[in-house]
Amino acid sequence: MKHKGLFITLEGVEGAGKTTQVHRLANAIGENVLVTREPGGTPISEQIRNIFLTDADMSPSTELLLIAAARAQHVTERILPALNAGRIVICDRFSDATIAYQGYRKGIALQQIEKVNHIATGGLAPDVTFLLDLPPEIGIQRKRNSGEPLSRLEHEKLTSHQKVREGYLAVAKAEPHRVILIDAQLDENTIHQLLVSETKKRIQSFE
Ligand code: TMP
Repeated sequence: MKHKGLFITLEGVEGAGKTTQVHRLANAIGENVLVTREPGGTPISEQIRNIFLTDADMSPSTELLLIAAARAQHVTERILPALNAGRIVICDRFSDATIAYQGYRKGIALQQIEKVNHIATGGLAPDVTFLLDLPPEIGIQRKRNSGEPLSRLEHEKLTSHQKVREGYLAVAKAEPHRVILIDAQLDENTIHQLLVSETKKRIQSFE
């Protein structure tokens, strides 16, 4: 799908440091940036996020359809208008998360994920994705150390988190031109500088 902007996503297992990097990157890039997240980013999508993160015993298909509903609203109401206006959109998670979480972790067939993702995005894909890769046991430990309460997904067994990581690595392998794999055990400033330099390269090429 053609647009005038730059669509950047950050992905990774729980505790990989995405959210910190999203905000640092946005500050470094400056104006003309929209920072957003999934699930979420619009009033409807944020309501769906609350249901998604808090309700226990959710079936895998329910997860997939809720995520897709949140994404459809987010793409239409926020992401596409910003991209069409030539803005830089930095989104904390997007479609790759559905492949990793609902596909690899929850076992929904990848072809089904692809179809549903297509309905939700209308074919919109990130121009670049930064995948912050980390052994999940370190990510969960980081979350615990931060003192924040863990969500229902973060509470799941380590093997589930390992599947998520495996899913993300498979996406990175399949799409090496789009997905930049970053070792999330590097220090925060080094990761930040890497993200800024890769983003600036892409801004120059679309200006
Ligand atoms: P966050 O903690 O990075 O804000 O993400 C919220 C949770 O939602 C996280 O556990 C991953 C999960 N998630 C999915 O399961 N599928 C998706 O497609 C997305 C975007 C998030």
